[in-house]
Amino acid sequence: MTEPAIRAGYDAVAALYADMFRDILDDLPVDRALIAAFAELVRGSGAPVADLGCGPGHVTAHLASLGLPAFGVDLSPEMIALARKDHPDLRFAEGTMTALDLPDAELGGILAWYSVIHLDPGDLPAVFAEFHRVLAPGGHVLIAFQTCDGDAPLAFDHKVVRAYRWPPGRLSALLRDAGLTEVARLIREPAEHDRFPAANLLLRKPAA
Ligand SMILES: C[S@@+](CC[C@H](N)C(=O)[O-])C[C@H]1O[C@@H](n2cnc3c(N)ncnc32)[C@H](O)[C@@H]1O
Repeated sequence: MTEPAIRAGYDAVAALYADMFRDILDDLPVDRALIAAFAELVRGSGAPVADLGCGPGHVTAHLASLGLPAFGVDLSPEMIALARKDHPDLRFAEGTMTALDLPDAELGGILAWYSVIHLDPGDLPAVFAEFHRVLAPGGHVLIAFQTCDGDAPLAFDHKVVRAYRWPPGRLSALLRDAGLTEVARLIREPAEHDRFPAANLLLRKPAA
C-alpha cells in the first residue's frame, strides 16, 4: 500500500480506532508480558524508545508506564492528534518508518505493534535497514503482526487498508538480513477481537 493510502485510511477512522483499541492491552496478558520483557531489556540503556506506527498512542503510554522514555511516530496526522490529546505528557511525531527523522544509533528500542503489516513485502528490507540504522548496538526491536502458515506473506482484507500476514520465519529472515538477531518468537491463538493468530518477534542489534 502507498503511504498516502495508508494515511488516508487511518485518518478516516482514527477516532473510531482509538475508541475500539485504547484499552485492548487490558485483555491481553500474554502481550503485556512480552512488552514487559522488552521493557526490561531496553530500560537499562536510558536511550529513547520509539513506538513506530503508534496509532492513538495507547501502547506508547503503556511503554512509558513501564519506565521507558517512549515516544510515538505515525503516518496519520489524525492519529497523532488523538495521541497528543490522550497523552499530553508524551511526545508524538508525524512521520514514516521508511525514513525516520533520527540520527544513527539513537534508540535503545523500537516497538512496531501491528504497523509493519501495511507495508508492501518488497519495502520491508529497506524499513528493517532503517530500524538497524537508528538502533544503538545492543538495542532491541519488538514486532507484532498477524501470522500465517507457509513460507510467504498473505494479503488479507484488513478493515482499514490492505495488510499482510507473515510466517514468523520469513519475517525473521528479513530482519536477520538487516543485521538484527532473533532473541525470541511467540505465537498466540486469536483473542476475542482477532481473526488470525498473533505473532511477535523480539530481536537485538548485536553489540559493536
Ligand atoms: C493497525 S494500526 C496499529 C496502531 C497501534 N500500534 C496499535 O497497536 O493499535 C497501524 C498503524 O501504523 C501506521 N503506519 C502504517 N504505515 C506506517 C509507516 N510507514 N510509518 C509510520 N506509521 C505507519 C498507521 O497510520 C496506523 O496508525
